[in-house]
Amino acid sequence: MLCNYLVILGVVAIFFIIAFFNQTYINSQSFDGNIFTMKNDQETLVQPKETTTNLSHLMFVLVGSSRAWERRSTYVESWWRPNVTRGNIFLDVEPSKKFQPWSPTFPPFKVNEDLKKLAIYPKLKNPIHTRIYRSILETYRLMQDEGVRWYVTGDDDTLFFVDNMVDVLSKYDHKEKYYIGMFSETIVSNYYLSFDMAFGGGGYALSYPLVEALVLKLDECVERYHYVWAVDQLQSFCLADLGVDLTLEKGFHQMDLRGDISGLLSSHPTDPLVSFHHFETIEPLFPGMDRHGSVIQIMKAANVDQSRMLQQSICHIRDSMWTFSVSWGYAAHIYEKIFPRSHLKRPIQTFRHWIGAQRPPVLMFNTRPVSRDPCEAPHWFFFDSVEQENERVVTSYARKFPRNITSCSFSGNISADPLASIRVFSPKTPKQVPSSYLLDI
Ligand SMILES: *[C@@H]1O[C@H](CO)[C@@H](O)[C@H](O)[C@H]1NC(C)=O
Ligand SMILES: *[C@@H]1O[C@H](CO)[C@@H](O)[C@H](O)[C@H]1NC(C)=O
Ligand SMILES: *[C@@H]1O[C@H](CO)[C@@H](O)[C@H](O)[C@H]1NC(C)=O
Ligand SMILES: *[C@@H]1O[C@H](CO)[C@@H](O)[C@H](O)[C@H]1NC(C)=O
Repeated sequence: MLCNYLVILGVVAIFFIIAFFNQTYINSQSFDGNIFTMKNDQETLVQPKETTTNLSHLMFVLVGSSRAWERRSTYVESWWRPNVTRGNIFLDVEPSKKFQPWSPTFPPFKVNEDLKKLAIYPKLKNPIHTRIYRSILETYRLMQDEGVRWYVTGDDDTLFFVDNMVDVLSKYDHKEKYYIGMFSETIVSNYYLSFDMAFGGGGYALSYPLVEALVLKLDECVERYHYVWAVDQLQSFCLADLGVDLTLEKGFHQMDLRGDISGLLSSHPTDPLVSFHHFETIEPLFPGMDRHGSVIQIMKAANVDQSRMLQQSICHIRDSMWTFSVSWGYAAHIYEKIFPRSHLKRPIQTFRHWIGAQRPPVLMFNTRPVSRDPCEAPHWFFFDSVEQENERVVTSYARKFPRNITSCSFSGNISADPLASIRVFSPKTPKQVPSSYLLDI
């Protein structure tokens, strides 16, 4: 009832403001409607009695190359928190003079050990990946692990949402052996590599007891599986030998996709967003921005509230037969028709496939096609700015291009064309549980 009331107020405001300022203000305080559903028995199962996991308990093992660092340092820099996040970036060779002195805004760098000292070296299928893999062992040998509960691995083009990473990992008992990540978006990648492996670019986490067991066997694994090309597959083989299988978390994104991923980012699962990858195969995240600018833009919202990042909220305005779908911190859509959440949570397939042109089934999730039907195609608004007020956070979404389609005649020809921007109000407190916000279905 409350939601209803607020949305109707919103409608009045919209029409008022359209008429005079060509702008809209949507009061979505329904974002307040957190329902805490974690059951007691579940809580005692997953919550260790000691202090909850925080960022200081995570050791990041990042890998890259000195040559790519010039292009990719901004990706890492955008999420890295100097003196707060712990870890190192492992490079193949010393970085060029240009990067010296090494910026304090980067993770400290380490140069990987020379693989040629390994007896197996001549037989290695993919020495670059072996170098990457051994960064876990080399991190362990640095003896910087005091209080560490998790190792988190990632590439130089992985973007981490570290607060969400902490939230996700704190669900698990770090004193047990856990291997946590996600497979690829693309069926063939999983088919040829494994459905039971964390794709490395999206990053994955290993609990510390698992790290301790792994480092004893790591070089042995490199020898045993010297014929394996992909490091993340090698890792899954090695961990399987230690008796540990993958635990899936949907917030990790290998992003084995090409082109415009805005459709996917507009319909993220309710799980917290943990990572993105493959910035050089996907188009910039925002229209009219380059890749680096886009990364900085998305982190503007993430730096204020990671718990809501890309979380989809849906509401309907029955009077005008419109549906709003907001992907917090990224995009807002208006449909000139009432759609249920089961429809809207399917990403619009704005992107292309990772490998070649194929017929479905290609993807690990359901999608909707891009449509030019006036009742099906949304008006797109992209995240523009975030402001913090006393009790709430206001995110604004701006129209970046006209829809160029007539209005939906099925539901009364009420066009959303005049709307130039949308403002969404959310509380300052973080979002609690994975669930979507539903208004007035
Ligand atoms: C993280 O937890 C440790 C205890 O393991 C505590 O000493 C530290 O103050 C905590 N850090 C933050 C930022 O809460
Ligand atoms: C990080 O810590 C070092 C040493 O304590 C200090 O000199 C430096 O200013 C700190 N850097 C930042 C960005 O806070
Ligand atoms: C709409 O038309 C404008 C001007 O012709 C064009 O620049 C824009 O790309 C079109 N937008 C879409 C979504 O087709
Ligand atoms: C919308 O406009 C079209 C064309 O003007 C008209 O045929 C249709 O009946 C209108 N729809 C409604 C529901 O009024």
